[in-house]
Amino acid sequence: MNQACDVVIVGTGVAGLYCALNLPEKLNVRIITKQAADGANSFLAQGGICVLRGEEDFNDYYADTMRAGHFENNPKTVELVLRSSNQIIRDLLRLGVRFNRDAHGNFDYTREGAHSRPRILFCNDVTGREITGTLLQQVRSRPNVTIDEYTTLLDIISKDNACHGVVVSDQAGQISTIGANHVVLACGGLGGLYKNSTSFPHITGDALAIALRHNVAVEHLDYVQIHPTTLFSSKPGRRFLISESVRGEGALLLDKRGNRFVDELQPRDVVSQAIWKQMEADGSEHVWEDMRPLGEQTILTHFPHIYRRCLEEGFDPRYTPIPVVPAQHYLMGGIKVDLASRTSMAGLYACGETSCNGIHGKNRLASNSLLESLVFAQRAADDIVFAARAKRAAPPPEVDLKQYEDLDALFSEYRRAVLKRLERLEAKHG
Ligand code: SIN
Repeated sequence: MNQACDVVIVGTGVAGLYCALNLPEKLNVRIITKQAADGANSFLAQGGICVLRGEEDFNDYYADTMRAGHFENNPKTVELVLRSSNQIIRDLLRLGVRFNRDAHGNFDYTREGAHSRPRILFCNDVTGREITGTLLQQVRSRPNVTIDEYTTLLDIISKDNACHGVVVSDQAGQISTIGANHVVLACGGLGGLYKNSTSFPHITGDALAIALRHNVAVEHLDYVQIHPTTLFSSKPGRRFLISESVRGEGALLLDKRGNRFVDELQPRDVVSQAIWKQMEADGSEHVWEDMRPLGEQTILTHFPHIYRRCLEEGFDPRYTPIPVVPAQHYLMGGIKVDLASRTSMAGLYACGETSCNGIHGKNRLASNSLLESLVFAQRAADDIVFAARAKRAAPPPEVDLKQYEDLDALFSEYRRAVLKRLERLEAKHG
C-alpha cells in the first residue's frame, strides 16, 4: 500500500520529536521508528543538557566546546547552538520538562569533563528520559502526527537529487512507500555496529548507509566518541553508562593499586586514552571509579539510577569503587548538513546524531548533544515551514519494491557500506 503525507520523520529521539512539535498542525506528519517509541538513544542520556549561563558565560562555553573538539568545530554552528540554548530550555520548561533545582527554586547545575564551570541542567541521572519522555507525550497529543512503531526505514525515494519520500517495512513485514516532500532523518548514530557500546543495538547507522547509496554528502564518519566510563561487565549486551557528571561531582579514577592516574575532568578522548593505557599497564580489563568522595546523600539523590544498577552488578558505590571501562558512545560525524539541517539532497534533512553540522568537531563536549539535537530539529522545522521553495519539476518516481524483499541482504549491504567507509577513513587518518 502506498501512502503520502507532508513530512516523514525517521526516529523518536529528541531531534525527531522536537522537529514534529515545531511543525504547524496543518501539516500531516508521520514519524517512523524501528522499535517502540521509547527505544531511542535520547532516552538513555544521563548527564544533562548544557545551557549558556548568561552573556558572561559565552566566551568560556565557546572555548570549552572548541577545545574539546580539537578546534575542528564549525564556529558558526557553535555560536548558533550556544545562543539558542536559553530559548530551547525555556521551551522545554513550557512543555513540562522538570530540571533539578536548589532549595531556593533556582536551577541546580552539574559539571562534566572539559567544562570550565557547572552549566549542565539535569534531572537526577535520567535527564534523557525526562526530556524525551515529555516530548513524546506532547507529540502523542498532536492530532496531525502519527507514530508508526516497529517500522523500519529501508530507503529514501529520490530522483534528480530530490527526495520524494521513504520506503518502509512495517511490523508485519509489509513493505510500502510513504510519499512526502520533506523527509527528516533523525535516527541516531551507529553504536549498534560495535560490540561494546552505550547505544541500543538496533541503532546501526542505516540512514548513513542510505545517504551513501544516494550520494548524499556525509562527513567525518570516523569521528567516533568513546565514553571513558561504562560499568564493566563480562555479560554481552549494551554497556551501562556511568555518567560523566559522576566525575563532575567528584568521583575519582583509580588504578589497580588504588592510585589516581589521570585528571578525571579532561575531555573524553583524553580520559579514555589514559584508561586504556592504565589497563595495559595493570594487565586489567578495567580501572576503578570511586564514587565515595560524593558522599552517600549525593549518590542516592543525584544518581539513584546508577546506584541501583551498580547494586545489581554486585557493587555498592557508597562503600566500594566500581569497575569501569571505555565503550563506544557517540558519532560526531554523519550526514552533512547546513545551518538549516538541509542535506545535499533537496527535501532531505538530517538532525541529531545522524547528522554532522560541525558543532562537535573531532570530540564532543559532554552534554552538548541533546541541546544540539533540539536546536537543529527546530531549524529543520523552520526551514520546512518558512523557506520559499520552487515547486518540484519532476513527479515522484515509481519504486520497484521487489528490490527490498530480502531484508537480511539489504541490511548486510548497509552495514558493509558504513563499515567500509569507517575503515577507509580510519586508515587515512591513522
Ligand atoms: C554522560 O552522562 O556522561 C553522557 C552525557 C553525554 O553523552 O554528553
